[in-house]
Amino acid sequence: MTTRHYSPADRLLMSVDNALRTVFGRPQTTERPNPAAHLPEADLGEQERRHVARLMRINHTGEVCAQALYQGQALTARLPETRRRLERSALEENDHLAWCEARIDELGDRKSLLNPLFYAGSFAMGAAAGLAGDRWSLGFVVETERQVEDHLDEHLAQVPERDERTRAVLEQMKVDEIHHAQVARAAGGAELPAPVRLAMRLVSKVMTRSVYWV
Ligand SMILES: [Fe+2]
Ligand SMILES: [Fe+2]
Repeated sequence: MTTRHYSPADRLLMSVDNALRTVFGRPQTTERPNPAAHLPEADLGEQERRHVARLMRINHTGEVCAQALYQGQALTARLPETRRRLERSALEENDHLAWCEARIDELGDRKSLLNPLFYAGSFAMGAAAGLAGDRWSLGFVVETERQVEDHLDEHLAQVPERDERTRAVLEQMKVDEIHHAQVARAAGGAELPAPVRLAMRLVSKVMTRSVYWV
C-alpha cells in the first residue's frame, strides 16, 4: 500500500465527501461478505419484525456516529500512524453501516431521519477528541467501542433466536468492535476520566431513545 500526503484542504474536502456518502449514499466498504448472506429468513410476527427493525435502525445510526467519530479524529490526529489506524477502523465501520442498512431494508423499515444531526454532533466530538491529543483520541475510541459492545449485547438479548440474519450481523459487529478497542488500546489509548465516560453514556441514551421512534 502506498502512503499519500494530503493537504488540510484536501482532508476537509474528503471529510465532506465522507459525510455525504455516510448519510445519503453508499459508503466505501471492505471486501468482507455480509455475515447474513447465506442464512434463511425467519418468520417474524408483525410486532417482532417492527421491534427488530427499530433496533437495527438504532444500530445503523450508531454506525453513522462511529463513522463520524473516526473521520473527525482522523482529521486532527497528530501522528500519521494513528491517523492510518483510525481510517482503517472507519472503513470497517462502513461494513457495519452497509449490513445494518441491508437488514433494515429486508425488514421493510427505514433509516433514522436524525442521521445528519448525529453525524454532525459525532464529527465535532471526534475532532475535539483528536485535538486533545492522540492518547485521548485513542482512549475515546476504546471507550466508544466498549460501550457499543455492551449495547450490542443488549440488542442480542432482544432479537429472537430464530432471527439468524439479524443475529449474524450483530455478532460479527461485536467481534469487530472488540478488535477496534484492542487496536486503539495497544496504540496507546488512555483510560478516560469517569465523568467523561458517564457523559458519553448519556449521549448514547439520548440517541437510542430518539432513533427508536424517529
Ligand atoms: Fe461498528
Ligand atoms: Fe468499531
